Amino acid sequence: MLKLPELRYDYDALEPHISARTMHCHYHDHHQGYLDKLNKLLADIDFDYRTVEDIVRKSAGRDELTGVYNNAAQVSNHAFFWNCMKAGGGGVPASELRKSIEHDFGSFEAFRKAFVERATKRFGSGYVWLVKRGEKLAIGDTANADPPYIAGDPPYASGDDPLLCCDLWEHAYYLDYQNGRAEFVEAFLDKLANWDFVAAQLAGDTVQPQLVAAE
Ligand code: FE2
Repeated sequence: MLKLPELRYDYDALEPHISARTMHCHYHDHHQGYLDKLNKLLADIDFDYRTVEDIVRKSAGRDELTGVYNNAAQVSNHAFFWNCMKAGGGGVPASELRKSIEHDFGSFEAFRKAFVERATKRFGSGYVWLVKRGEKLAIGDTANADPPYIAGDPPYASGDDPLLCCDLWEHAYYLDYQNGRAEFVEAFLDKLANWDFVAAQLAGDTVQPQLVAAE
């Protein structure tokens, strides 16, 4: 059995940018819902795993495990997404991370513009990510439940390393922004992004757990 990581802030901590109603619905209903479905599916099969990311990697591309893959990826993505935000976050990050962004995107403003554009061009549900691709930072977007570390072809585990993500499913913003996805992503970058978490990911430091441990 897997359990959800605790949310590290109150439901209303990200207001007015994300309402307590959205956070409750997103964490308590959607995230918990993906986990409940995953645990139910795992109860019926013999599947060896250590973390939810193990499940994602081992089920990717296997037609008979589509439900396991989708729900495990959503459990993992949401655990990661919660860490990507904090009250009083956003804006331009501290010097080392800012320098890396400026080096690879030209300027912080160019990165911000490209991130928002990528988010608005993603058709339907998915995520927009800041990732580490080799030695460089890059922006990527994925469809539905896919995380960036799952490449499009086998062996399905050679993709980008995630550093920051913003959830683009309508359940993430519709109550607060209706169809204003760009406004939501701008608020995410300007007011909520947890750059300390991004810097820690980039440094290979795991100061905040992103994995969902097995009980
Ligand atoms: Fe979500």
